[in-house]
Amino acid sequence: MKTFYIETFGCQMNAHDSEKVVGTLLNEGYTQTSDEADAGLILYNTCSIRDKAEQKVFHRLNEYKKLHGEGKRFAVIGCVAQQEGTKIFDRAPYVSIVAGSSSYRNLPDMLARLEAGETRITGLDDRQTDETFDTEFTARTNPHRGYITIIEGCDKFCAYCVVPYTRGKERSRTSASVLAEAQRIAQSGFTEIQLLGQNVNSYHDPSGKRTFAELLAAVGEVNGIQRVRFTTSHPRDFTRDIVDVIDAVPTLCDHVHLPVQSGSTAVLKAMQRDYTRDWYLERIAWTKAAKRDISLTSDIIVGFPGETDRDFEDTITLLEEVGYDAIYGFKYSPRPNTPAIHMEDSIPEEIKVQRLAILNARQREIQRTNYARHLNQIMPIMVEHGANSRGQITGRSTQNKTVNFSCDSVPAIGSYVDVRITQIFPSSLVGEAISQPTTPSPAAIAQAALNARVNPQPAEAV
Ligand code: SAH
Ligand code: SF4
Ligand code: F3S
Repeated sequence: MKTFYIETFGCQMNAHDSEKVVGTLLNEGYTQTSDEADAGLILYNTCSIRDKAEQKVFHRLNEYKKLHGEGKRFAVIGCVAQQEGTKIFDRAPYVSIVAGSSSYRNLPDMLARLEAGETRITGLDDRQTDETFDTEFTARTNPHRGYITIIEGCDKFCAYCVVPYTRGKERSRTSASVLAEAQRIAQSGFTEIQLLGQNVNSYHDPSGKRTFAELLAAVGEVNGIQRVRFTTSHPRDFTRDIVDVIDAVPTLCDHVHLPVQSGSTAVLKAMQRDYTRDWYLERIAWTKAAKRDISLTSDIIVGFPGETDRDFEDTITLLEEVGYDAIYGFKYSPRPNTPAIHMEDSIPEEIKVQRLAILNARQREIQRTNYARHLNQIMPIMVEHGANSRGQITGRSTQNKTVNFSCDSVPAIGSYVDVRITQIFPSSLVGEAISQPTTPSPAAIAQAALNARVNPQPAEAV
């Protein structure tokens, strides 16, 4: 019974939640297995952002049902759990726990009740809690990057989006608690930190000590930290001091992910994004005026109800004006509980498909031009994967670009190598190492130790 298997879907916040859930379970005496057949408890950490996600969960649960005869228990957690609530028990009575992310701090209690034989255990929160899930028991599964959630939930209520309903009220951790975690991460060997939040820059220190930009600077100054990333920034709360602090603190990465969603002010209004095209472009202009070459990326939705050809054209011209280094394009997908569900999903599927294809094709051309400037540049690359079948190592630049390169020795994951760029592709760069790998990659060492143990202790507790 005290063996668990976990499967995770969705965004980086969900992936990191799973690291915290796993750490909590290990601390409660559970053992993790990578084979669901061996598990007494199967957890399914779900996402409901698009595409009838809840139906996929029920489909997956039906597959799980086949295993149920063997006495397994099931927990549905994450965004579909919060969204569907006890309906999950009705449709899948063999599920024992349904818990949204706002309730994970109560996991030890939920597990004790499960062990006592209780069924239908819920951890649901309908935008009530002001508390965040801070735990020192985080099983860090990424070998080179330590994640820290600094702000949970969302109060923006964009017309299309489930997050305010699935993740609850916006609430931030104190900057002291974030910095303590950053220090623990650095001490356990990581040199790269990524700060997370659905709207990371809406961060509001409950102790009133630091602004978001000041917190960025403070994390960037933690001893041993060489790279700090943050996602996702919201244009509404994107202030000029964020650009200034990137310019001032060398460890902050040259990358801002600033989703625009649409280039049309009319569509932005219908989406309830609370900014205009010009407002957005002003923030882009600040970022471009920085001393550093800050890479810009975005999320875009095509086919929002009422989006005309003209509106879509505005999105294409915005792509060209900004010159993003990458975008994530999505077809609008009507979601339960959101205001947009009451609007007619007026854009036919084939038009959505067509617009997405045009968007991606245009973006590919933009990237081809953008990436060309990197030819012959020398970039410090952090190694993320060892050699592939062709002997190429994969890593990332500070701008978050993927770089495949050749190297005499196979550098450790988490080490840094200077790479000269010799070839350009639309979404990656190719090069050759021109320095020996530096930093003995304590992150990789900590990870190897973690993997070697049958029941790993969370890296932070080391
Ligand atoms: N908080 C972030 C984004 C979170 S969700 C922000 O406000 O920018 C990640 C991305 O999923 C969004 O940026 C949006 O592009 C996309 N998305 C969210 N809801 C969607 C929906 N109903 N249909 C299609 N794409 C959606
Ligand atoms: Fe969703 Fe909007 Fe909140 Fe982003 S800001 S999570 S898109 S409601
Ligand atoms: Fe999905 Fe929830 Fe993240 S809906 S994108 S897992 S916040």
